[in-house]
Amino acid sequence: MSRVKIMRKHIVAGNWKMNNGLVQTTTLISELKQQVKTSDAEVMIAPSFTNLWHAFEATRQDDIEVVAQNMHFAENGAYTGEVSAGMLKSLGIKTVILGHSERRAYFNETDEALAKKIDTALANGMRVIFCFGEELSDRKAGKHEEVVKGQLVNALCHLKAEDFEHIVLAYEPVWAIGTGETATPEQAQDMHAFIRNLFRERYDANVADNLSILYGGSVKPNNAKEIFSKPDVDGGLIGGASLKAEDFYAIVNAF
Ligand code: 13P
Repeated sequence: MSRVKIMRKHIVAGNWKMNNGLVQTTTLISELKQQVKTSDAEVMIAPSFTNLWHAFEATRQDDIEVVAQNMHFAENGAYTGEVSAGMLKSLGIKTVILGHSERRAYFNETDEALAKKIDTALANGMRVIFCFGEELSDRKAGKHEEVVKGQLVNALCHLKAEDFEHIVLAYEPVWAIGTGETATPEQAQDMHAFIRNLFRERYDANVADNLSILYGGSVKPNNAKEIFSKPDVDGGLIGGASLKAEDFYAIVNAF
């Protein structure tokens, strides 16, 4: 399978989370196809595992990439209920979201487990959208940069510089997810600049400047333009607003 090389680009990805059965998936995809893209952003949708194949088939001719919300770190074996990189690849899925705060909070995903998942994804020629972000208590305590740095270093900094061609970062402050409370564009920019700088220090300017860093957390049609206008914000990971075709494309077209 050919690898998709990431050079810094605009990306808007819809994380459908545990929403939409087969009928709703079919309907939403046909509505998405009726929308017009005027921006240069790459468009991705992440349906549930059960609808990946259908979504992949339904978007084959379209400018929409279907991506997975999670995967296991093992290649195969006795892991009841889990899905491997090989299974995703066998459908044609090339990208996987890893480390979402809901996975960390409800399924005890640790930085160590995520490092293994990232290694497995890369070894299978997949690209990764890696999510991380601080809790409200971290921000209130002024520890948001320290927490984010820890998450990034623990999960990613064992990688080689060239591996970052296959990594997209998604900063999602936990307090902004599904709450309607967005980080201000300045808060997003400050954190994205901090992250880029971290990779400049740990690796080099090439790695840092080529990283696409997405923001996620209550991005809506009415705030996307301002957030996306910030120089270190390369796109968005969209939850609630990705479940309505019109809203999702309003965000895609905010670039
Ligand atoms: P909301 O856009 O619903 O806040 O969700 C963000 C998110 O978690 C995307 O992964």
